[in-house]
Amino acid sequence: MSAKVVLAYSGGLDTSVAIKWIAEKYGMDVITLTVDVGNERDFTAIQQKALKVGAIKSLVRDAKATYVNDYVFPALQADAVYEGRYPLATALTRPLIAKLLVEVARQEGAAAVAHGCTGKGNDQVRLDVGVMALAPDLKIIAPAREWGMTREETINYAKRHSIPVPVTVSSPYSIDESLWGKSIECGVLEDPWVEPPEEPFTWTRSPAKAPNTPAYVEIGFEKGIPVTVNGRKMGGVSLLRRLNELAGRHGVGRIDHLEDRLVGIKSREIYEAPAAVVLLQAHQALQGMTLSKAQLRFKQQVATEYADLTYNGLWFSALREDLAAYVASTQRFVTGTVRLKLFKGSCNVVGRRSPFSLYSYSLATYDKGDQFDQSASPGFIQLWGLPVKIQAQIQKTESAGNRLSTRLSF
Ligand code: ARG
Repeated sequence: MSAKVVLAYSGGLDTSVAIKWIAEKYGMDVITLTVDVGNERDFTAIQQKALKVGAIKSLVRDAKATYVNDYVFPALQADAVYEGRYPLATALTRPLIAKLLVEVARQEGAAAVAHGCTGKGNDQVRLDVGVMALAPDLKIIAPAREWGMTREETINYAKRHSIPVPVTVSSPYSIDESLWGKSIECGVLEDPWVEPPEEPFTWTRSPAKAPNTPAYVEIGFEKGIPVTVNGRKMGGVSLLRRLNELAGRHGVGRIDHLEDRLVGIKSREIYEAPAAVVLLQAHQALQGMTLSKAQLRFKQQVATEYADLTYNGLWFSALREDLAAYVASTQRFVTGTVRLKLFKGSCNVVGRRSPFSLYSYSLATYDKGDQFDQSASPGFIQLWGLPVKIQAQIQKTESAGNRLSTRLSF
């Protein structure tokens, strides 16, 4: 009996070739695992293809709810956005895929797991480190990183072994999809000066062709988790689908990012993430109303760190877990409703309300009913400005050398 390996299988050319290549090179029995994270594929056809190409077993796992509840929503609560632009859809799927690879490997008594990532991207790091964190004993095989074949050689290898070459191979774009967003790479996009053509966009209408009347949408949150759309209670998966559809129709969610990969290169990435763009904005607006100034400031630093950890394949690290605990604590009062306006590619918050709002009308108003005690301000300013005043008195004089040093430094 040969040793078994569980291969993360997309049904595409590389992972199909990998089934044969692993069997030939390592003499192992390949079990494929396809993970459904909301990428709308024909999973039965993918399963059959794996068996046809030579897998001894072919599994599909519906991980949509787990993906949304255990990966996407915690990242939303953290406001995790990489380099201020990328909502991390792909980066959040990889630790989940690593976890499922390990689970299946254990069930099947496999000695190794495998994936189709190349040696140039972030996904190899995320999958490898995920597996290292959860099952340090498992061997990891990455055929596309090892075989050194060009695209053409891979296609020829497929033809030699009667592996069906999908027509999509002729598409110049490399695409990855999950409920939190779609990424588009390669082709003309590799020239950062070239405006992305309409063609690869499938989740969003061009803003120019979006409806001429704006749409309003109300998102209800409970403890930082979105739970209603326009007053209707929805599970996470349906809620993301609904918002992707609604915001996409209004041209919201296109992102053009010149991104810094973990492996040291810059790459031009196009994303479509309508639901993510709406929810991240809504969530931040609600936090603006329910968190203190100090919490908001500190949380921003945590958000950057959290996004980097996620991007860099460190989801299962102790630090990411520590930060998640902090983030969860910050969300205790992030409950309420945010109203947004979607119009020709733009998404703006136009209203927010919460039972835990820290906004006080009677303190903020300039109209009648003002309860702010203006007579308290002069005393406050006396003490607030005291260190500035003292320093000015002592050091901003000619005898203290102030003038001279200013002149010298220019
Ligand atoms: N640049 C994004 C990231 O690193 C998207 C990667 C897309 N992955 C893929 N296998 N096509 O997360």
